[in-house]
Amino acid sequence: MADRRPIYLDHHATTPLDARVLDAMMPFLRDDFGNAASVIHAFGRRAAAAVDDARERVASAIGAAPDEIVFTSGATEANNLAIQGSARLRPGHRDQLVTAATEHPAVLDVCEALAGEGFGTTVLPVDAEGLLDPAAVEAALDDRTALVSVMTANNEIGVLQPIREIAAVCRERGVPFHTDAAQAVGKLAIDVEALGVDLLSLCAHKFYGPKGIGALFVRRRRPRARLKPVQYGGGHEGGLRSGTLPVALIVGMARALELCVEELESESGRQRELRDRLLAALSSSCSGVTCNGHEEQRLPGNLNLTFDGVDADRLLLALPDVAISSGSACTTASPRPSHVLLALGLSEARARASVRIGLGRGTTQGEVDLAARRILEEVRAQRSAAA
Ligand SMILES: Cc1ncc(COP(=O)(O)O)c(C=O)c1O
Repeated sequence: MADRRPIYLDHHATTPLDARVLDAMMPFLRDDFGNAASVIHAFGRRAAAAVDDARERVASAIGAAPDEIVFTSGATEANNLAIQGSARLRPGHRDQLVTAATEHPAVLDVCEALAGEGFGTTVLPVDAEGLLDPAAVEAALDDRTALVSVMTANNEIGVLQPIREIAAVCRERGVPFHTDAAQAVGKLAIDVEALGVDLLSLCAHKFYGPKGIGALFVRRRRPRARLKPVQYGGGHEGGLRSGTLPVALIVGMARALELCVEELESESGRQRELRDRLLAALSSSCSGVTCNGHEEQRLPGNLNLTFDGVDADRLLLALPDVAISSGSACTTASPRPSHVLLALGLSEARARASVRIGLGRGTTQGEVDLAARRILEEVRAQRSAAA
């Protein structure tokens, strides 16, 4: 057991790089090292052509046009550009932000930092299943609202927000709408036109692409979304994000996204079945197991479970052979209980008794069955030690 790799069930934290993606990247890590902005010679032109091609593929995967894709280092940066870029456009006029209590820190902390500079932030509550009411968004809007930011899929409880409805409310009132879709892109069919969003963040390492690359969709027409850059320099990415483009990462992101879109239907059905099997195994033979977040409106590979009377961190320590997490791994080693679970109304004690499980493309039935057995063993051991 000791030299075997643990079963990986933490795909919301990150996903492994797909071998087909690495193959697509390799030429750009070796021979094709040109700078995509130095197109006076063949090296740069090859890099620029690869970036153009990747931009087209990323855009088409989400129903956007190529000139609406701004490459960033990931979703954190894309969120910063969307939120800071909107807030700083007309300070003193449109300086109010609206978001939700269950957002990722890459949204909440940006809003909080801006609040420290005098911008206003309204953080809307969610219901006990983690859903935000579009009517609450509507009620929070006024003529000073610079941006509404609501995530598509939650990174802890997998809950899917009614993005289309919220986007419609914002469009009706002429307020730009941003969605952090880091957990949704590659797992759900995303079409920026059908959703009616103005800004959308994504990152490759959540869909079997490389780490350190992401993008912000910025609507260019009907209506055009306007942003102030956060980072200045050589004027890359239409002036919105200066910095030499990481060609290999961009090529990898496009390939990874294409593969996910191709396999989306079969893969989401497969993961949903495995997820339901895991939940049934855990809850049928063990009392005091609750699933957090809306039962249906959630990502196919997500489970967030509270085990009554169990300390989640101790449980994880006792399970070196199963890689799951408590709270959000994207949030560093925070001793605080999950703000997401607290927003659903869980007590601190129940939030601390909760684990996040994320199935992925490589997850097998054998792994799910073994993980269920090991989790049950350790839950029972902890409960009987406490009794
Ligand atoms: C919903 C969400 N937004 C943003 C991020 C941050 O993305 P990145 O790691 O690309 O900066 C993550 C995870 O890390 C996430 O789950």
